[in-house]
Amino acid sequence: MLDTACREAIARLWARKLDQDARKLPKAQRHRNLHPATAEFVCALATGLESRNLVDVGGSSGISTIALAAAARTTNGRVVSIEIEPARQAEARATLAELGLDAVTRFVLDDAARVLPALEPADFVMLDCEKDDYVGFFDLLRLARGAVVVADNVLSHGLTEYVAHVRRRSGAESVTLPIGKGIEVTRLP
Ligand SMILES: C[S@@+](CC[C@H](N)C(=O)[O-])C[C@H]1O[C@@H](n2cnc3c(N)ncnc32)[C@H](O)[C@@H]1O
Repeated sequence: MLDTACREAIARLWARKLDQDARKLPKAQRHRNLHPATAEFVCALATGLESRNLVDVGGSSGISTIALAAAARTTNGRVVSIEIEPARQAEARATLAELGLDAVTRFVLDDAARVLPALEPADFVMLDCEKDDYVGFFDLLRLARGAVVVADNVLSHGLTEYVAHVRRRSGAESVTLPIGKGIEVTRLP
């Protein structure tokens, strides 16, 4: 579960995102963040599943990484947070350090396409990057038995191709939940 400090940090990041949206800043200047309700959910889910090898694809300024690291702190696990944009990751790094979550987080500044094939098998993955990459990145994941993959924006962006793709995977169970911008939660065999 997220503690008060984590919730406050997430609320601050989310308020900034809403303010940038309201001011209609150019897209490149706006932060795109995970909805706080989704952060609560993935933290609770990863904690309940006792996930210990967690991966955040598209960590950006940190909401999803806070959520997964808070779970990892409880489960004695670790998070790999992958982000391609240096300034975004630098901010996440500072925030996670303030929250005392840096000890359970490894930040990787690179293209997830290069990073994912070399990681240890994960038991919990959050996909929140460019939507055109979801299918390809899902296929690049190295997953432990019973791993869970959560993909954000499936309702806000109508990610039907991704949803169909994961549901075709043999033995996978998958459900769309109307939390935040809509998430696809997929459990692999
Ligand atoms: C929607 S934002 C992620 C928000 C973040 N999960 C949060 O909770 O605040 C998407 C992020 O994915 C990053 N990204 C896009 N393509 C990537 C790639 N190939 N590898 C790593 N990160 C990538 C972007 O730079 C951007 O910061």
